[in-house]
Amino acid sequence: MRVLVTGGAGYIGSHLVDLLLASNHEVTVIDNLSTGKIANLAHCIEDIRFINGSILDQPLIEREVERCQLVFHLAAAVGVRHIVDRPLESLLTNSRGTENVLEACFKYWRKVLVASTSEVYGKTAKVPMSEDDDRVLGSTKVHRWGYSTAKALDEHLAFAYAAHGLPVSVVRYFNSYGPRIDPRGYGSVVASFIGSALSGQPINVHGDGSQTRCFTYVDDTARGTFLAGFREEAEGTVVNLGNPVETSIRELAQEICTLVGSSSSLNFIPYEQYYGKGFEDTKRRVPDASRAKALLDWEPTVDLATGLARTLEWWKQTY
Ligand SMILES: NC(=O)c1ccc[n+]([C@@H]2O[C@H](COP(=O)([O-])OP(=O)(O)OC[C@H]3O[C@@H](n4cnc5c(N)ncnc54)[C@H](O)[C@@H]3O)[C@@H](O)[C@H]2O)c1
Repeated sequence: MRVLVTGGAGYIGSHLVDLLLASNHEVTVIDNLSTGKIANLAHCIEDIRFINGSILDQPLIEREVERCQLVFHLAAAVGVRHIVDRPLESLLTNSRGTENVLEACFKYWRKVLVASTSEVYGKTAKVPMSEDDDRVLGSTKVHRWGYSTAKALDEHLAFAYAAHGLPVSVVRYFNSYGPRIDPRGYGSVVASFIGSALSGQPINVHGDGSQTRCFTYVDDTARGTFLAGFREEAEGTVVNLGNPVETSIRELAQEICTLVGSSSSLNFIPYEQYYGKGFEDTKRRVPDASRAKALLDWEPTVDLATGLARTLEWWKQTY
């Protein structure tokens, strides 16, 4: 198949490109390299069409959607920190950009997978989080919730097109980590902790570190995305892609220190000091992964210790 991947030079997108090439699909990537890198595709750049362009460029999106048979839409302004720092640009990328992609898919009747996020659940206290659960969000004055809201709008749009018959599926990622993760640590606590541990700097933990997350190794994330894009069973619905094993941020920091052999101390920073006044974090974020199992026969296969060891290995070879 001719497959278009928006955001294909990004961390998850580039792993998806690898899977698509391994299955002999023809791949075109559109990425504006804002957070993605050509280095993520260097090993396969001769085997794909790479377009340095934006999902906000509607004529470009129309042209490339028409050329392809299937679209994986992963391009986005990613991560809570990004959204807090640049709320307007992030909101427009994540709403208008997706609107352009979906509109073109509708016009040329192309199947599309939309990458969404566990942030959509907001600050609900209900765990595990099931796809059809209520969303619980804070004030619109708090920029943090703009990411959740824009991604939820993307999902609404996707399902509105699905109501007109367009084959659409949506996946919600839960804290993906692994090789090619951005060492600037913009959206990733794993990258930020590994960087600090290796350099012997204090590890900055937001809050008291008791908040938990479910870390999902990137091979599992990419495989679930691939399956959701191709399997008819996932059409018209949203699927959590997350490893249900919970780890507190403090435990994560300790595990990384042990793995690296680092004596870095933990430096606890109040949320408000890092993100500004009014910031609210989610205490626990745990996926109900039963729909992924039922529809895609997807289960996470890589545990945290193995995934962190592989990530560290990649890090040492790369930096
Ligand atoms: N990493 C995670 O744990 C996680 C969690 C939840 C959701 N997601 C979603 O997964 C997708 C991929 O994220 P990622 O973690 O690989 O981050 P990433 O930053 O590596 O990937 C996003 C890609 O989109 C590109 N991009 C940004 N704006 C663009 C634009 N206007 N036009 C074209 N390309 C643009 C970036 O350059 C980058 O390559 C995103 O939709 C993100 O919201 C990721």
